[in-house]
Amino acid sequence: MSSDIDTGKRRFLTAAASVVGGAGAAVVAIPFVASMAPSAKAEAAGAPVRVDISRLEPGQLLTVEWRGQPVWLFRRSPEIIADLATLNDQLRDPHSQQTSQQPQYAQNPGRSIRDDLMVMVGICTHLGCSPTFRPELAPADLGANWKGGFFCPCHGSRFDLAGRVYQGVPAPTNLVVPPYHFLGDDVVIVGESAEGAA
Ligand code: FES
Repeated sequence: MSSDIDTGKRRFLTAAASVVGGAGAAVVAIPFVASMAPSAKAEAAGAPVRVDISRLEPGQLLTVEWRGQPVWLFRRSPEIIADLATLNDQLRDPHSQQTSQQPQYAQNPGRSIRDDLMVMVGICTHLGCSPTFRPELAPADLGANWKGGFFCPCHGSRFDLAGRVYQGVPAPTNLVVPPYHFLGDDVVIVGESAEGAA
C-alpha cells in the first residue's frame, strides 16, 4: 500500500514506505506510518524520523518522509560499494567537495556513515523533481555503463548509488545527505546528527 500525495510542488510516495527490490523491480509496500498519532504532527513539523531498517535487503530502497521531503534509505551490497569507485571519472563531484550537500561525517566515498546504507534526500538538485530509482545494470535507455542509480525524468539528470551527480546533466550538485545517525544496527534516526557530530 502506498499513498501518492501531491504537495503542490512535487509528487512522491509517502505515508507508506515503498521497497523496490532488485532488477525485477517488484514493488513491495511495507506499512510505515501505522496511524496519524500526535507524533505524526511533530514529524510533519520537522522532527526526526525513526526508521527500522532490519528488513531492508541489499538492493532495496525504502522511502520515508522528513520535513515534507522524501528521504531514501538504500541498502548497498558489497558489489555496489565496490562499483562506486569505478564511476569517479564520470562524476561532477566524486569526492563530495561541495560541503553544503552532506554533513562532514558523510564526506567520504559512500557519502554515508556506514558503507552498506545510503541515506539521501530524494529531490533533484536541478529544479526539485523526485528522481526515479533505476537499480538495473546497463538498461537500454541509460547505456552500457550504467551501474544503478537514480534518473530524474524532468530533465535527465543522473545520480549514482551514493547520490553523486554525473557530468553533462543539468543538476549542478550531488543529492543532499540529511543529518542522521544510528541507534544500534537496525534503527536510523533521520533528521538529527549524533550528539557532537558535525
Ligand atoms: S529537476 Fe531533475 S533534471 Fe531538472
